[in-house]
Amino acid sequence: MSENLRRPIVMSGIRPTGFLHLGNYFGAMKNYVAMQDEYECYFMVADWHSLTTHPDTKALKENVRTVLAENIACGLDPRRVTLYCQSHVHETAELYLYLNMLAYMGELEKTTTFKDKARLQPDNVNAGLLTYPVLQTADIILHRAQFVPVGKDQEQHLEMARNFVKRFNHRYGEVFPEPVAFNFGTELVKVPSLDGSGKMSKTENQNATLYLRDSDEVIRKKIMKAKTDQGPSIPHSEKPDYIENIFGLMKLVSKPDVLEYYETAYNVCTIRYGDMKKQLAEDMVTFIAPIREKAKEIHANPNYLEKVMKEGAEKASTSARQTMKLVRAVMGLNYFEGT
Ligand code: TYM
Repeated sequence: MSENLRRPIVMSGIRPTGFLHLGNYFGAMKNYVAMQDEYECYFMVADWHSLTTHPDTKALKENVRTVLAENIACGLDPRRVTLYCQSHVHETAELYLYLNMLAYMGELEKTTTFKDKARLQPDNVNAGLLTYPVLQTADIILHRAQFVPVGKDQEQHLEMARNFVKRFNHRYGEVFPEPVAFNFGTELVKVPSLDGSGKMSKTENQNATLYLRDSDEVIRKKIMKAKTDQGPSIPHSEKPDYIENIFGLMKLVSKPDVLEYYETAYNVCTIRYGDMKKQLAEDMVTFIAPIREKAKEIHANPNYLEKVMKEGAEKASTSARQTMKLVRAVMGLNYFEGT
């Protein structure tokens, strides 16, 4: 397809560090699914990024397959998007190397995710962790993507990506558009954890995170344990964080009239949190159960997943090779015809 008839390009990724949760769904995957027809989409499983925290690599392949199955179960169609695994597209590593020359220690050390990880794993503050946003930029601009559907926690990485792109374009020549974080709503999403502390996460806070693979019983248990209080005694009072979170989750999965019912009950001080949590638990089960069952079915078909990965790797590599030709040309690294 000619360059100006191309649909806008979208790229995003998820690390295979654990089971996907409601935050991954509402922060990222829901947008992936909504974008697949009108945009040219590249979605990948970031296995190289996951190595920064030294996972058990024996489980890596299995985790990549699980994330792929969960992506497809959420509605991604591998025939309509390019769905692939990061390590299958070697051009990523080359672009990462070039971008590393344009990234400065000071800015990398100041990155919030780096500081958080350094605090969590003080014995493993490796260079890969420091340059994590550089690799993420390589992933994105390898397809010359403009839009990056991500949750709120990735905002800073996208800002850094724009800085690296500006520097590259300024130094070598205009190759890349400046990528922006994307969400169909007005703001990037942050799905809070059920205990009101921080966000839902693949590895931390597991009892306060709702996973797309949780059984109906586990979903009910986790929600019923969410912190509440006796309810407000003054009409229209402000909600404490942990109550706001329960309303926030209800907004994601319950019908608008259900949410309105509890909003009104809160405002007139008649709310019963036990009932509200029961309702939320049932709506959550209705939401998660079909995804969980579909993911199980897809996961049980390794041949299908292998085919998806191989086709995805081919499509992503074709796009990557085109970009790298432009990159090498502007950098003066095109020593031979066709490189
Ligand atoms: P990861 O694997 O931590 O998360 C995957 C996606 O889920 C979003 N997310 C959330 N959104 C809302 N609320 C939450 N509680 C929540 N938790 C996670 C994340 O914002 C993300 O969109 N660095 C990336 C992976 C990556 C990437 C990329 C992303 C590698 N290369 C290129 C975009 C483009 C990460 O760690 O995602």
